[in-house]
Amino acid sequence: MHYVRIILGIFAVLASVNFASAQETSQPDRSATGGAQTLEDIMARQRGEQVDNSFRSDATGDPDSAAGIAQQLGTLGGASDPELWRALRFGSAKITATNSGPAATTLIQDGGMKWLQFREGPLIKYGGGLLLATLGLLAIFLLLRGRIRIDGEKTGNKIERFKAFERFGHWVLAGSFILLGITGLVSLMGRKFLIPAFGHEAFSTVAIASKWIHNNVSWAFMLALVMIFVMWVMHNLPSRTDINWLLKGGGIFGGGHPPAKKFNAGQKLIFWSVIVLGSSISVSGLALLFPFEINLFAPTFAKLNSIGLPGLIGIAELPTTLAPHEEMQYSQLWHAIVSFVLMAIIFAHIYIGSVGMEGAYDAMGSGEVEEQWAREHHSLWVEELKAKEGATPKGATPAE
Ligand code: HEM
Repeated sequence: MHYVRIILGIFAVLASVNFASAQETSQPDRSATGGAQTLEDIMARQRGEQVDNSFRSDATGDPDSAAGIAQQLGTLGGASDPELWRALRFGSAKITATNSGPAATTLIQDGGMKWLQFREGPLIKYGGGLLLATLGLLAIFLLLRGRIRIDGEKTGNKIERFKAFERFGHWVLAGSFILLGITGLVSLMGRKFLIPAFGHEAFSTVAIASKWIHNNVSWAFMLALVMIFVMWVMHNLPSRTDINWLLKGGGIFGGGHPPAKKFNAGQKLIFWSVIVLGSSISVSGLALLFPFEINLFAPTFAKLNSIGLPGLIGIAELPTTLAPHEEMQYSQLWHAIVSFVLMAIIFAHIYIGSVGMEGAYDAMGSGEVEEQWAREHHSLWVEELKAKEGATPKGATPAE
């Protein structure tokens, strides 16, 4: 739930930074400029205030006011040149293009600069900050809490926890995610950090390779995501034991080991984060992989407006008419933001699945865990297994 709130928060900030359409302001007197923008408009924009642009976006001429065709060369029509440019800029011009590809009729689009600045600025700063802060917290946790050891005496007995195909699914997911994370960060941050360190030539090679890996490995990630969903969803449905587990904080800071089935509540949160955020990253990634073909944001914004979400969090209505390029810009930002959040969650997961907890790695390494580990961390699961074993003793053939 914690992460859901963070995403909503980020989403709110995002929407308010860029994209919220102009807030209601009283129209200033523009008679001195004949209705065009005034020095005050320019200054307000420079101060970072929202300026209602409708006095420009709506001023695109009126065909009905065109002078009649009286002379040989006719009339210039109902729109002046500035009006025509405004219509192009604000997307209301009727354009016919011989190229029938997507976005061919968008001659000017407005959002590119805001997108670029957000991508180069806050996205790198806060996204990178989130990852570093997570690593820092995990290091502090390791120092304070130390490795979570197996408390009881080891039995020497092994219990099968994950079958080979489950481990295969997990490692395809993990391997692809790590590759996608690294190559994604190179694409986002390379200009800022790698070019100054290694120069343009070297970065060019790295960037081309990164893009190739990122585009192609994405399929493995999506496939493995479907695999782990199908394999583990039944074990990750919420159950009553989860409440107790969460109330006891998983026993991480003492207080014994709260009972858990195959997956405890913490793991269920990881599972659902991977499924929900991983799917969202996949869909926005597909929108980037097939430019202009998948428009996600205008319909989503319309839905959010209709349920009144912008009002609830105190921001202006979200824009519902987006140029094809703006759709791509939103997809890129969303893809990166959700990826940052999932990377931070996965850092914590990798920590607890390796150095953070004695005996955990075996579950995905050999597939077999020490019985004492299983009894401490997944007591109800062990009981279930033992009950099943009791019902059909090893070596017994079921009755025909
Ligand atoms: C080097 C990196 C990784 C290590 C060492 C690792 C380790 C593990 C281990 C040991 C388990 C089993 C836990 C148990 O038996 O209870 C597990 C489960 C799981 N892993 Fe990973 N993992 C890694 C990367 C990833 C990545 C990148 C993802 C997803 C993008 C992921 C997703 C999952 C999920 C969904 C589960 C099941 C739920 C859970 O146990 O939390 N893992 N992992």
